[in-house]
Amino acid sequence: MKVFVTGGSGLVGSTLIDLLLARGDEVLAIDNFVTGRRDNLQPHARLRLVEDSIVDKSVVDALVGDFRPDVVIHTAASYKDPDDWHSDAMTNCVGSANIGQACKTYKVGRLIYFQTALCYGTKPREQPITLNHPIDPVNSSYAISKTAGEHYMQYSGVDWITFRLANVVGPRNVSGPLPIFFDRLSQGKRCFVTEARRDFVFVHDLARAVIKAADGTGSGTYHFSSGRTAPAAAPIISRPDATSPSKSSTTRSCGR
Ligand SMILES: NC(=O)c1ccc[n+]([C@@H]2O[C@H](COP(=O)([O-])OP(=O)(O)OC[C@H]3O[C@@H](n4cnc5c(N)ncnc54)[C@H](O)[C@@H]3O)[C@@H](O)[C@H]2O)c1
Repeated sequence: MKVFVTGGSGLVGSTLIDLLLARGDEVLAIDNFVTGRRDNLQPHARLRLVEDSIVDKSVVDALVGDFRPDVVIHTAASYKDPDDWHSDAMTNCVGSANIGQACKTYKVGRLIYFQTALCYGTKPREQPITLNHPIDPVNSSYAISKTAGEHYMQYSGVDWITFRLANVVGPRNVSGPLPIFFDRLSQGKRCFVTEARRDFVFVHDLARAVIKAADGTGSGTYHFSSGRTAPAAAPIISRPDATSPSKSSTTRSCGR
């Protein structure tokens, strides 16, 4: 199978690419390395990694038009600076529009997206959150722009799946509570544990579900979470159990 992965050098993208290459797929990836790490991907005969931005429509059209992927897995996202609305809008809205439209134009078979649980707002009206919860991406440029991106996936008319996520963790995780705790503890600094609870999933569990989706399982919107919450510090010593996609519930507290 031919798979185009946006954000291929990120936590989720690179983990997916490892699994796709291991089973014999041909992979094209794009990354601008804003948050992705170069050492997340090793050179491979069936991998082409392009250093560029999905914001450039001509780049996206040329890559999708030449490669003609069976599946596009769109993990690229901007979130680094909560005050940088421009970058969030460019990558998450314009970039996603470019990806969705290219998939439509070149008749891509499947399009997979990753939405943030922050699309339900920072104070969800129900716990656990169900798919019936109103979309309300307040107080977050990231959530607003990712929500626009999710709409573009739907609007493309391509067979699409969106995974709505809370906190994904794994060896390549560079943002969120775990790296913060790790950095502080490694420097001998104290950590502050609040009442906040998070729903953590392990990136390899997510990646396996995404590969199933790429192969044709499921359609539409899914929550992907453990269904259990933990104090933000707990996963330092224990990894959550394997998880499965759910049509009914997600995190009890919102993540990234
Ligand atoms: N990790 C989480 O906890 C979490 C939670 C909710 C949603 N998500 C979503 O899951 C997806 C993957 O997240 P992740 O944890 O792998 O993040 P990540 O930062 O590790 O990966 C995102 C990748 O996209 C790249 N990128 C950013 N802007 C780009 C652009 N304009 N063009 C090309 N590449 C660009 C970055 O350099 C990075 O490599 C994202 O869409 C994110 O919104 C993640």
